[in-house]
Amino acid sequence: MAEMGIYEAMSTLRAVRRLRPDPIPDDVMRRVLEAATWAPTGGNRQPWRIVLVKDRAKKTRLGELYSARWSAYVKHYRIAIPASAPADVRARSERTLAAGDYLAAHFGQTPAIAIFCFDPKQMAITDAKQNRPSVVGGGSVYPAVENLLLACRAEGLGCVLTTLLCEDEPEVREMLAIPDGWFTAAAVPIGYPVGRGHGPLIRRALEQLVFTDQWGKAS
Ligand SMILES: Cc1cc2nc3c(=O)[nH]c(=O)nc-3n(C[C@H](O)[C@H](O)[C@H](O)COP(=O)(O)O)c2cc1C
Repeated sequence: MAEMGIYEAMSTLRAVRRLRPDPIPDDVMRRVLEAATWAPTGGNRQPWRIVLVKDRAKKTRLGELYSARWSAYVKHYRIAIPASAPADVRARSERTLAAGDYLAAHFGQTPAIAIFCFDPKQMAITDAKQNRPSVVGGGSVYPAVENLLLACRAEGLGCVLTTLLCEDEPEVREMLAIPDGWFTAAAVPIGYPVGRGHGPLIRRALEQLVFTDQWGKAS
């Protein structure tokens, strides 16, 4: 069983997009999947499931779909990097794009792809009637995703939360025999990292993200 402090795991959980095809031992994979089952959900309904894709032909098809979506996405992403951005920011964006290209080219060769599914009928979506995009339903799925990512981190496995395949949901549902009423929320390719994998994060400072008593007021 992997030993790693929770803060160390959280503060080094990066999107790892360069993954090796080497197999993941069954006991390791089981621990990672079990971590997902511990996540909180609204009313403890647990309205999520994982279809863990290991079949070569299915992974290959998912890789083809992902690659096409990534190519379309990346065109917009490149345009969105302003020429005026500092050199280090531009270099970082280019590194992210290169890693994304790698993932797109190797998506289908990762040893396992966890497709997270959800059933909205089992969710009390308390913001559904607000005049804005609803997010509460995702709160009964993505904590399970995050638990899985953290467990991967602790096990030395690389992984990344991806959502581009949601755009191909009809084909993915058919391929994986996902029943009526269930939909897809994320696809997480999992594998041992090509390089050092996880590491330090770049995030906004706490003071920019957390306020006390009123918006904008520092804690
Ligand atoms: C909701 C969501 C959707 C994402 N979708 C994708 C995706 O489709 N493809 C991808 O390569 N990364 C995807 N990511 C990963 C993010 O790009 C990544 O977490 C973010 O850039 C921070 O990267 P870092 O943790 O390495 O600093 C997604 C992350 C989230 C939270």
